[in-house]
Amino acid sequence: MMESVFRLPARTLAGLAVTALAATALVAVATTTSATAATGLGQLAAAKGKYFGTALANNHLGESAYATVADREFNSVTPENEMKWDATEPSRGSFNYTGGDAIVSHAQAHGQSVRGHTLVWHSQLPSWVSNGGFNSSTLTSIMQNHISNVAGHYQGKLYAWDVVNEAFNDDGSRRQSVFQTTIGDSYIATAFQAARAADPSAKLYYNDYNIEGVNSKSTAVYNMVKAFKQQGVPIDGVGFQAHFILGQIPSDLQANLQRFADLGVDVALTEVDVRMQTPADSTKLATQSGNYNTLTKACLNVTRCVGITVWGVTDTYSWVPDVFSGYGAPLLFDDNYNSKPAYTGVSNAFGGTTSSPSPSASPSASPSASPSSSPGTGKACSATYALVNQWNTGFQSEVTVKNSGSAAISGWTVTWTFPNGQTITQLWNGTLSQSGANVTVKNASYNGALAANASTTFGFTGNWSGTNGIPSSVNCTGA
Ligand code: G3I
Repeated sequence: MMESVFRLPARTLAGLAVTALAATALVAVATTTSATAATGLGQLAAAKGKYFGTALANNHLGESAYATVADREFNSVTPENEMKWDATEPSRGSFNYTGGDAIVSHAQAHGQSVRGHTLVWHSQLPSWVSNGGFNSSTLTSIMQNHISNVAGHYQGKLYAWDVVNEAFNDDGSRRQSVFQTTIGDSYIATAFQAARAADPSAKLYYNDYNIEGVNSKSTAVYNMVKAFKQQGVPIDGVGFQAHFILGQIPSDLQANLQRFADLGVDVALTEVDVRMQTPADSTKLATQSGNYNTLTKACLNVTRCVGITVWGVTDTYSWVPDVFSGYGAPLLFDDNYNSKPAYTGVSNAFGGTTSSPSPSASPSASPSASPSSSPGTGKACSATYALVNQWNTGFQSEVTVKNSGSAAISGWTVTWTFPNGQTITQLWNGTLSQSGANVTVKNASYNGALAANASTTFGFTGNWSGTNGIPSSVNCTGA
């Protein structure tokens, strides 16, 4: 599918009008994103209020073993290459969403949320951009137009976007990409503002590697995020790629995640792998299992660590051997889709059983054991309303739904009455009905099941005028 359009101003301006309220009014702490896989690591993660995802490559989805494992184990996906600039805007103003659309449809059909990757990056950048010789204002327009089109195309369908990827060097200085050398430091904030305007419901992330421990690079990113929060630049999260070497997980990983979370952003491990010198042997695989266990626990121990994504389903298709000669075997499933000890390392961290799936295991049929929904059986939930952004006549809110009872629930209904005639224009991660001031939101197909104490969120944008008061009470009923 090719589209040839230049689109920008209207929504950009609306988004840029986001007030300083954006930085201060986020009351609730978002935890869960959404989906629950039929079985597997995604389900274990969801029970802890996190997601567990994988990079997904469209060209492998036709292989049944690949798709079976991907759909069984993961409740979040990141397109490995399909949403990058070279794929989405190979020539100026010509947009191609074929691969990205296929990933999104597959994810939607399997109850998986999607992390968009990535809008602005020096790599996989077509030469018409990197070698175009544009001046600052033209390249800024080109970047804004790219973001407006690509993020606009996926508006409302993605959980998050990696807005800017790998903009720093290891010493903490800015990478001399064409965006940096032509536009200067301001390009990153400009990109985030354009992304917010194009898709107000996506969480906006800065994403990088070698920032997992406290070091010069992570501190430079930390200082940028801190400044963005102070200046009202719309950033919601930081992605730590976590391309690790066997036995070299930084000892301060958890502390580093926590210091970013303390700035008021979500954090996530976004591209995890743990590479080893090949061939693998049982000692290395055991070490790798411990490494995966450690990194999973680091995320679990940080409330605002929303989830973990591994960078591929199987060792066979990992990027590692192509780039690091003599290294490989970095993922949870081997070349034959057998789960590795690393799988058990993750599963144990989530409190799962030690058994790992057999390679031939097909996805379990349906979550048929639907619990009884009779009242008075400990099924209860609570809902917390948070105003996230507010501008001119628009606003964005987020509601956190928590299972506050002693039993698992299989669905929830949240209701409230708007005090000032607000109307919802778009809602995600739930199903909406609004009648006058009365709002009812039921769970989406993928986020109704919540274990005791687990939580999920839904969000929406709406219109207001005069006053934008917060509902005095928000009710939740669990089923
Ligand atoms: O699409 C072409 C295909 O037409 C051609 O026949 C083939 C021949 O080599 O190449 C294909 O492109 C490859 C592309 O992946 C799609 O498969 C590129 O050569 C190859 O370089 C590219 O590698 C990707 C790499 O990013 C590029 O930088 C990896 O799959 C992908 O896993 C990797 O992911 C990055 C993250 O986006 C950012 N963080 C680091 C991470 C690992 O490098």
